Amino acid sequence: MPFYTLGVESSCDETAAAVLESNHTLRSNVVFSQADLHACYGGVVPEVASRNHVLKVAPVVQAALDGAGLRLGDLSLIGATCGPGLNGPLLVGLSVAQGLAFSLDVPFVAVNHLEGHLFAHCLSFPDVEPPLLALLVSGGHTQLVNVSAWGHYEVLGSTRDDAAGEAFDKAGKLMGLGYPAGPQLDKLAQGGDPDAVAFPRPMLKQGYDFSFSGLKTAVRYFVEDHPATPLVDLAASFQAAVVEVLVHKLFAAARGYHQETLVVVGGVAANSGLRKQLNLRAQREGRRVYYPDAKLCADNAAMIAACARYRYATFAERSPLNLLALPALTLPTSACA
Ligand code: KG4
Ligand code: ZN
Repeated sequence: MPFYTLGVESSCDETAAAVLESNHTLRSNVVFSQADLHACYGGVVPEVASRNHVLKVAPVVQAALDGAGLRLGDLSLIGATCGPGLNGPLLVGLSVAQGLAFSLDVPFVAVNHLEGHLFAHCLSFPDVEPPLLALLVSGGHTQLVNVSAWGHYEVLGSTRDDAAGEAFDKAGKLMGLGYPAGPQLDKLAQGGDPDAVAFPRPMLKQGYDFSFSGLKTAVRYFVEDHPATPLVDLAASFQAAVVEVLVHKLFAAARGYHQETLVVVGGVAANSGLRKQLNLRAQREGRRVYYPDAKLCADNAAMIAACARYRYATFAERSPLNLLALPALTLPTSACA
């Protein structure tokens, strides 16, 4: 008897739904990005995001079912992101998933978005199991996580201010790039000189926490004082600063916690400069570094379905159908948090 999990994600500006068969077979993965709708504001406007999730969630769920060749009645489990994220947007996907679970009489599992990002790795590399060290780098979070087993997480360090993706977006905005600036900045950086501007490497040798807001300010002052600097050099120099900090801390933690297997997830895991430096360093140190497929790095519902399926199958977890959104949720430290 096949087991189909529907995942729903709506924590920020992506309305997403996916169908997973058993543990790792992705039958469909639909993402509607609202990025274009927020671009004119230079960032995500929560109320605009909520309203567009309401408009898109039903067609996106239907598209995920159609893509999988299934009907609602074929589903065995429903999982949805309950936090962290924006309250209004979270409530949309969560309520729809809870309503579907109630009407279909199937179990429901509320998924922590951060744990979901970690499960993107499982979908791409099902055989690469913990123990491992994960670097979660997205628009909302930057965390170094020691994963002793799925469900058991020790957060070694987090950002004290801006997330890495947020820093890319804000620095890109100062360079005149549209939202989200990360992917554009990455492309520009490939044609620039990373040593052109000596931007600071914040908190480089100070433990496992991160701080990127000062770097953004440094970009701001530099752009004001040196308006003629080629954009490609600005982009390459900024990216080199972020990448050096991320790579240094990940490998320092790998040494400190004796981890051979390194996993990088979240939207910034798609960054070409980051991947290049991580691969070089991993080769030098004899460690292995893994990144999910590009479509699983950024926000998606496949990772939410995978996490829900794991928690249901392993811990028999079921979440209440009246659970509210948890905008400030943190990564659970024990399996049944
Ligand atoms: O994981 P994600 O889709 O959403 C959150 O959970 O935040 O990450 C989105 C972030 C954005 O800040 C975006 O600019 C950044 O990931 N990003 C990149 C790249 N692709 C996406 N940053 C740098 N280089 C990239 N290639
Ligand atoms: Zn995310």
